[in-house]
Amino acid sequence: MQIEFRAIVQSEYGAPEKVLRIAERQFKSEEVGADDVLVKVIARPIHPGDIQILSALPQGGPVVPIPEGTLRVPGFEGVGTIVRLGTNPEAAKRFSEGQRVAFFPAKGSWGEYVVVRYNSLLPVPNEIPDQIAAQMLINTITASVLLKAGHNSLKAPITLPVYILQNAASSGVGRLLTQVALDRGVRPIRLVRSNQSAERLQSALPGPPVYSTSDSNWKEQVRDALGGRKLEVAFDAIGGKAIDDLAEVVDDGGTIINFGSLDSNMGTNIYSLVPNNVALKSVSILSWFRLTDAEKQKDFELALSLATHHPELFEVAHEYEFGDFQKAIQHVSSPGKTGVVLLKSPA
Ligand SMILES: NC(=O)c1ccc[n+]([C@@H]2O[C@H](COP(=O)([O-])OP(=O)(O)OC[C@H]3O[C@@H](n4cnc5c(N)ncnc54)[C@H](OP(=O)(O)O)[C@@H]3O)[C@@H](O)[C@H]2O)c1
Repeated sequence: MQIEFRAIVQSEYGAPEKVLRIAERQFKSEEVGADDVLVKVIARPIHPGDIQILSALPQGGPVVPIPEGTLRVPGFEGVGTIVRLGTNPEAAKRFSEGQRVAFFPAKGSWGEYVVVRYNSLLPVPNEIPDQIAAQMLINTITASVLLKAGHNSLKAPITLPVYILQNAASSGVGRLLTQVALDRGVRPIRLVRSNQSAERLQSALPGPPVYSTSDSNWKEQVRDALGGRKLEVAFDAIGGKAIDDLAEVVDDGGTIINFGSLDSNMGTNIYSLVPNNVALKSVSILSWFRLTDAEKQKDFELALSLATHHPELFEVAHEYEFGDFQKAIQHVSSPGKTGVVLLKSPA
C-alpha cells in the first residue's frame, strides 16, 4: 500500500519563514520495520525547542546534518492513530491498528504520517482529548528529568521541607515542574517576569507563591517565603543574567539547574556564583534517552496521570490548521502567550 501525504519539510537549517515549506511525500507501508509503527498524526505541538532546532540555534543543541537530496520533517511528539504495526509480536501484544496513541520520540511529527518505534507509543484513554495527548510527553518528561537532577543536587542528610525556586514558572514545563514537585512533597516558589503573568498563573494554578521579577524587592519576597529555611536548588529556563539573579538567593553550596534559554542566554557573570559557592548544572531531555525502558515507562505513566488528574496543566494557546504553520510558529514566541501551540493535520 502506498500512502501519499503532506509534511512540513526543510532541506536546510535556518529561519522558519525561509526554510520551511509543505511538500507531498510518499510512504510504502511495506517499509514499516519490525519494531516500527505507522501513525496517522491528528495533532502535534510546536515547542520553542522545535523552532530552535529547525533554525539551528545554539539552544537547540548539536545540529544533525540534512543529507544532500533529502528533506527533514521537524517535530518529535504528537497524538495520532495507528495505521500499521510492524511484525514484532510484542508490538501486536500491546497495540492494535486504529488505536489512538501519544508518541515520543518520533522523527517528523510535522508530517501527516510518521513512523515511530512501538516502545515510543502510549495508548490514550478516551477521557484524554487530543489537545492534551498531543503535548503531554515532552514537557512531562522534562519536568521529571529536572526533578531527578534537583534531588541529586541535594546534600545528605535531606532535611524537610525542601524548597525549590523556579523562573518562567508559567511555561508549559514550569507548570508541570510545580505540580510534580508538589506531588512529591517539595515546596516550589514560582517566579514570572510580570505582575500580569503572576496574577494569571495564581488564578489558573493556585497554591505555591508566585512573585514577579519586575518587582524590585522580589529577592526579599523569596527569602520571606523561605522563612529561614534553606534554598538548595533553583531551576532556570531563561539563562543569561537570570542565572546571576538566582545565584543571589540560592544558599551556600546550592545548585542552579539551567534547562532553557528563553532569553538570549548571554552575559551570565560566572563571579555571581562565587559568594555562595553555587554550582551551575545543565540538564536536557537528552539524558532521558539513557534511562532504562522501565524508567521511561514510569514517565509515560506520570504523563497519563497528570493528564487525567490535572488537565488544567495542559493549556492550549491556539490550535492552527496545518497550512497556517507559519502563523503557529510566530505565536509560540508572541507576548502574552499561555499554553502550548498546536498544529492540526488536514481534515
Ligand atoms: N532542556 C530540555 O531538554 C528542554 C525540554 C523542554 C523545554 N525546554 C526549555 O524550557 C523552556 C520552557 O519551555 P516551554 O515549552 O515550557 O515554554 P512555553 O510554554 O512556551 O512558555 C514560555 C513562557 O515563559 C515566559 N517567558 C518567555 N520569555 C521569557 C523571558 N525572556 N523571561 C522570562 N520569562 C519568559 C513567558 O511567560 P509569561 O508571558 O507568562 O511571562 C512564556 O509564555 C524553554 O527554554 C525550552 O527551550 C528545555
